[in-house]
Amino acid sequence: MIERQLKEQGIHGPPYRLLYGNTKEIMKMARETGSKPMSLSHDIMPRLNPFLHKAVMDYGKVMVIWYGTTPRVTITDPMLVKEILSNKSGDFGKMEITAFAKLFLTGLANHDGQKWAEHRRIINPAFHLEKLKLMLPAFSISCDELIGRWEKLVELGGSCELDVYLQFQNLTGDVISRAAFGSSFEEGRQIFLLQKEQGELFLRAHSINNFPWLRFLPTKVNTRMREIYRQLGVLLRGIIEKRQKAIQMGNNFKDDLLSLLLESNLNDPENKNSKNMGLTTEDVIDECKLFYLAGHETTTNLLTWTMVVLGMHPTWQARAREEVLHVLGTKKPNFDDLGHLKIVTMILHEVLRLYPPTSLLRRTHNRTKLGEIFLPSGIQLFLPINFVHYDPEQWGEDATEFNPERFSKGVSKASKDNSYFPFGWGPRICIGQNFAMVEAKMALARILQHFSFELSPSYSHAPCTILTLQPQYGAQVILHKL
Ligand code: HEM
Repeated sequence: MIERQLKEQGIHGPPYRLLYGNTKEIMKMARETGSKPMSLSHDIMPRLNPFLHKAVMDYGKVMVIWYGTTPRVTITDPMLVKEILSNKSGDFGKMEITAFAKLFLTGLANHDGQKWAEHRRIINPAFHLEKLKLMLPAFSISCDELIGRWEKLVELGGSCELDVYLQFQNLTGDVISRAAFGSSFEEGRQIFLLQKEQGELFLRAHSINNFPWLRFLPTKVNTRMREIYRQLGVLLRGIIEKRQKAIQMGNNFKDDLLSLLLESNLNDPENKNSKNMGLTTEDVIDECKLFYLAGHETTTNLLTWTMVVLGMHPTWQARAREEVLHVLGTKKPNFDDLGHLKIVTMILHEVLRLYPPTSLLRRTHNRTKLGEIFLPSGIQLFLPINFVHYDPEQWGEDATEFNPERFSKGVSKASKDNSYFPFGWGPRICIGQNFAMVEAKMALARILQHFSFELSPSYSHAPCTILTLQPQYGAQVILHKL
């Protein structure tokens, strides 16, 4: 019935097959392309999502594919993407997550409606630019440690090979631990190690999302996940309660996300006049977990692909280093310095265009109008932003090429209809985008000051999606001391 309703409005797609929909073919094609690396090119869509790549070519920018019995309308038209993401009336809500996934995924990103609006209002001030300035020393210490470690590695022969994907996982975990918990950094690190393990277990047991009763079985994974959930609660509650007391006694730390969040919760004008006390301790626990989840892997991906891409394009690496040395010399960057790194910023934008870490999902709750289309209730909407980022109508014939120059006049002028969505769009745009960009600029500037690098012969180009866009076999790079 749904297929007919969509077809009548000109929305076509690969035919539905009983119970499986298109799932078998999606998996078969993904297995085939995923079994071998690709050539060193940025034309990654045919490898990353071969089924969708073919379907978009065959059926256009609005089409339907079937995940089992669930229709997923896939939209790569930038104007419709914006219409969906700008919608404030809740017509295109977030996907509901399963009770099992809630052991891992929580907080702002999963709320909708009034609850989301309240949480977002309270959390927003903690991410303002002037607050980010206060966190810069935390970013800087983590970068010092990274550079120190790498210098030791190249000390002997003047160069060495390393997998930067693993290195950046440590760096971004460290940065978010320091930035979120400041003086309670060691406890923060413990929390984030647990959260990391929880993520790995969640991926291993992913099938439980389809068979929810499996989560009640006393398997090793289930038991460990529940134990981690409990431990995280105890650790976070301890830090939060200590911090709340300190703030009430006038000892505010002011330089980390947790204090900013608690302070903004206490000072929220709408909390003062109502019985509703804003964020509860449980809410703050969830948000702290989410900062790690949302900010760790995404920023790791950005830095990793930047190193890979600059390894492939040594001229741009040289231009970026020239700028860094011109602006900074050998000193560590302060906040204003980072604002002067134009070429570095253009490079990061271009990497996020070609290798955006995530795509977006929404769903309709009712029959809903989108452009000229009426979507039935219960439809999933998939917005694969990487497809929009590769659209030659938007980015020109060189859409699959690495060309940071396209961002020289700013993000809004880089494409025909301002079609750049690595951080989403509209009211739910990434709250941590400035945080991520400052962190990435700081790390890249420090690396360029100290090292040159090239791709190792052992590197195999194989972008793949495991929640986020990752290098399937790691990102092996050869570092040279400058
Ligand atoms: C390169 C790095 C990053 C990328 C590409 C990225 C991307 C995104 C995207 C696309 C969304 C929108 C999701 C949607 O609309 O469904 C989002 C939301 C979010 N991001 Fe990020 N993110 C990054 C870094 C961070 C960091 C560093 C933090 C926190 C420290 C963070 C925290 C969040 C949160 C809390 C949300 C939910 C916002 C809401 O629903 O109101 N992100 N991010």
